[in-house]
Amino acid sequence: MLERLIKTISTEDTLSLGIRLGQSFQGGEVICLYGELGAGKTILAKGLGKGLGVEEEITSPTFTLIREYCAQPTGLRFIHMDLYRLVYPEEAEVIGLTDYFQDDCVCLIEWPEIIAELLPEDRLEIRIEGSGDLCRLISIVPKGKWEAHEILND
Ligand SMILES: Nc1ncnc2c1ncn2[C@@H]1O[C@H](COP(=O)(O)OP(=O)(O)O)[C@@H](O)[C@H]1O
Ligand SMILES: [Mg+2]
Repeated sequence: MLERLIKTISTEDTLSLGIRLGQSFQGGEVICLYGELGAGKTILAKGLGKGLGVEEEITSPTFTLIREYCAQPTGLRFIHMDLYRLVYPEEAEVIGLTDYFQDDCVCLIEWPEIIAELLPEDRLEIRIEGSGDLCRLISIVPKGKWEAHEILND
């Protein structure tokens, strides 16, 4: 397990971490994003989408559960989920959330706890600690095949 621990001291700092992560992705990544309300999950998602090449503004999918964007020039699909409002894991299956776990998609999931059993073995787990105006401690743990990859080699 190669854990990376990164401290960010501002919103912009977390955004640029997301951008760097997004720039390193090539498709097929599933990113599970844990943290309390206001931790900065959506901020990180905005950066990640930008780094991937999404030109539209990325907005929180809290009420829609899921939003899809197209990254340029790669054509990769950026799938942003927020499962805060999901009550039963069965709903996730009905909506077909797992259909997005494939090579032409980069999936970022806020509040992935509810679908723990449906998550692929190969995934990145990102935990954000802290809220308010304080700094954030962000841990990145690669699972499965990603364990062999260097995440964010500087
Ligand atoms: N270091 C930081 N990293 C991320 N967000 C921060 C930071 N410091 C302050 N913030 C603020 O915290 C809020 C995080 O909101 P958001 O990303 O929507 O949280 P979540 O999606 O986890 O509920 C934003 O208003 C952001 O400006
Ligand atoms: Mg959010």
